[in-house]
Amino acid sequence: MAAENLIEVKGLKINFGKTEAVKGVDFCVGEDDSVAIVGESGSGKSVSAMSLARLLPPPPICQVSGSVKYKGEDVYGMSAARLRKLRGGEIAYIFQEPSTSLNPVFTVGSQIAEAVRLHFPEEKNVRKRVVKALEEVGIRNPEQRYDSYPHELSGGMQQRVMIAMALSCAPKLLVADEPTTALDVTIQKQIIELLCRVRESRGMSILLITHNFGIISQLCRRVIVMFRGEIVERGLCSEVLKNPQHPYTKALMDCIPRLNDKSRKLRPIDYDKLK
Ligand SMILES: Nc1ncnc2c1ncn2[C@@H]1O[C@H](COP(=O)(O)OP(=O)(O)O)[C@@H](O)[C@H]1O
Ligand SMILES: [Mg+2]
Repeated sequence: MAAENLIEVKGLKINFGKTEAVKGVDFCVGEDDSVAIVGESGSGKSVSAMSLARLLPPPPICQVSGSVKYKGEDVYGMSAARLRKLRGGEIAYIFQEPSTSLNPVFTVGSQIAEAVRLHFPEEKNVRKRVVKALEEVGIRNPEQRYDSYPHELSGGMQQRVMIAMALSCAPKLLVADEPTTALDVTIQKQIIELLCRVRESRGMSILLITHNFGIISQLCRRVIVMFRGEIVERGLCSEVLKNPQHPYTKALMDCIPRLNDKSRKLRPIDYDKLK
């Protein structure tokens, strides 16, 4: 069991005007923990994750209420200076589309170096640190790759660069929001394996956001299932996958394509049956 909570969310509500994106949820992420938030598109996963580092647009566009604590500290009471340290330095994010997160006109090495300089202004040998980071995420010839531009790399390699950038600031929590959704299945597997490896070697926590039940069990110990802004089920991955309780969870699990079963077609979720 995780020793201390890194993140504690209580009664979190997120509204965009009249749209209630998140309707009062509680969850926590411990130290050395791995949690997946699963739900279909629009269920409120990403906005919940963004709220942890106060990344949502300010009012009046978006109203956040309830409490979000990082190691007991109220994230919504933090000063601007404290927030800058929290973002990236303690909670880092990677997103679905690495190509849109990378700046096309700078080399990948220089973009990681910028993140390192921001969080470690004392660091003397930034280039060496960046090369080590590229090596850690399985990029071959990291010395040469430092000087590559994003378009010279495949989508999988670009996502590795994003992971290197996120890790270069030694975060306590990595939030991975659909990190493999834009990638081919074989590359997906490699990225999940990479995340498992760095999580273990660094003792870092991971919050994985995905609509895909098929990828969670390898990386995550616990799972939270979100449906229309609410948490409908939670538990250990091993137990929820074996014995889902909520009809929505069962419906989501039915959507996992099974590679060896050609007779099985994807079935749409029948919402009338969930109520
Ligand atoms: N910038 C925004 N402006 C207005 N509404 C938004 C915005 N971002 C998210 N929403 C609303 O919040 C809901 C949940 O979004 P999101 O967390 O992105 O879903 P998920 O990640 O589960 O697909 C969306 O259905 C949408 O109505
Ligand atoms: Mg999302």
